[in-house]
Amino acid sequence: MEKIFEIINKNEENIVKIVLSNTDSEIKKIIIRPVLINNKIKWQVEKYIKMQVFHTNIDYKEIFNIPFNNYLQILIETKGENIQFIYKKNKYNMKITPNSIANISLSHNKAKDYIIKEGENVPVLTELGVFTKDNKIVKSMYDKYKQINKFIECIDDIIKDYPSNTMTVLDFACGKSYLTFILYYYLTEKKKIKANVIGYDLKEDVITNCNNLAKKYAYNSLEFIHADVSKDTLYDKQIDMVVSLHACDTATDYALNYAIAHNVKYIVSVPCCQHEINNNIKDIGEFNLLLKDGIIKERFSALFTDSIRSEILRNLGYKVDLLEFVDLSHTPKNIMIRAVKSSKKKDSSNLSTIIKKYSIKQTLYELLKDKLK
Ligand SMILES: C[S@@+](CC[C@H](N)C(=O)[O-])C[C@H]1O[C@@H](n2cnc3c(N)ncnc32)[C@H](O)[C@@H]1O
Repeated sequence: MEKIFEIINKNEENIVKIVLSNTDSEIKKIIIRPVLINNKIKWQVEKYIKMQVFHTNIDYKEIFNIPFNNYLQILIETKGENIQFIYKKNKYNMKITPNSIANISLSHNKAKDYIIKEGENVPVLTELGVFTKDNKIVKSMYDKYKQINKFIECIDDIIKDYPSNTMTVLDFACGKSYLTFILYYYLTEKKKIKANVIGYDLKEDVITNCNNLAKKYAYNSLEFIHADVSKDTLYDKQIDMVVSLHACDTATDYALNYAIAHNVKYIVSVPCCQHEINNNIKDIGEFNLLLKDGIIKERFSALFTDSIRSEILRNLGYKVDLLEFVDLSHTPKNIMIRAVKSSKKKDSSNLSTIIKKYSIKQTLYELLKDKLK
C-alpha cells in the first residue's frame, strides 16, 4: 500500500485516472480522475454501487483517505504508463506497461477526424466540462470526448439514408448525458433533423441538472425524465432510435427489449457491468475452464451476455454489427451492439437449447423467449 501511495504522491500532475476494483466489495469499482471545475482541478470520485454510479469531487490530498486496501486490483494510469497492482498471496504485485493512449490524448492529433471537432463552438460541451472555454478538449475528459464522438460516428454511419426530417430518440440510463446532449446537437445542428430526444435515468439530481442545461441552451426538444427503465412507463409513440451507453447490467436488456417491443429501426447500445450471467453461470461442462478464474469468468460472461443479446436481435429481424467502438484502452466496455431493423427473414437460433442446458438466466432472453424462433 505504501508503494501505491508513494506513486500517487509523486504523480499529481501526471495521473490520468486511478481505478480500484473488487467485485466482492459493496463499492465494486471506484474511478478517480482530475476534472476542471471553475478553473480549478478537483478529483472526481465515481463509485459503482449495485446498479448505480455516484460522483463526488474531492481535493487531491483526500485521495489518500480512500480505503485502497479494500480493492484487489488498482490501476494508476499516468500520462506515460499504466501501473497495475493485483492483490495475490497477501500482497500487491506491481506491473508497469507503457501507456500510448495518454500520449495521444495530450496531442489530440486525431481531432480532425471527429464529427464534433476540437475548437468547434459547442457551449454545452464547455458547461459539461468536456471543452475548455476556448473550446479545447479538457485533458482528463479526452476519453469521454472520444467515446461520444465515436458513438455519434457509428450512428452517422447507419442513418445516411434516413428518409425523414424528424426523429425520436430515447437514451436509456443517460447519466450526466454527455452523449444525449451531443446526439441532440448532432441531429439538430449537423443533420438538420427535427429531433425529439429523451434521456432516462434513475438519478433525480442528475436529471434535474440535465433539464436545466437543456433549458439554458434552448434545446427545446431535449428532455430528461427520472425513471427506472426496468419498470416505469416510458415514451411510447413512434420511436426511431434507442441508444444506451454503459447502461448498467440489465438496464441494457430493458433498453433492447423496449426497442424491440416498439419496432424501433435503429438500436445503438454499448453495454456495461454485465454481472447477471457472471452471478448465475455454474456449469458449462467441458468449458468449465472458462469459469475457474474470476477475471476470465467475468469477461467470458460479459461476452456471452452480449452474444445472447445480439442473437436475440438477429432472431427478431435485426441486422446486427458488433463493433469495437473505441480502443480498448479508452474503456474496457468497448463493444457496441448496433442493430438496424431489416425486412430480412428471421435467423433461427439454438439459444434456447444452450440457455436451458446450462441453466443460465439472462434478462433479455427471459423477456423475449416466447417470441424467439
Ligand atoms: C455508467 S453510467 C452511464 C451514464 C451515461 N450513459 C454515460 O455513458 O455517461 C450508468 C447509468 O445507468 C443508470 N441506471 C442504471 N440502472 C438504471 C435503470 N434501471 N433505469 C434508469 N437508469 C439506470 C445509472 O443511474 C447511471 O447513471
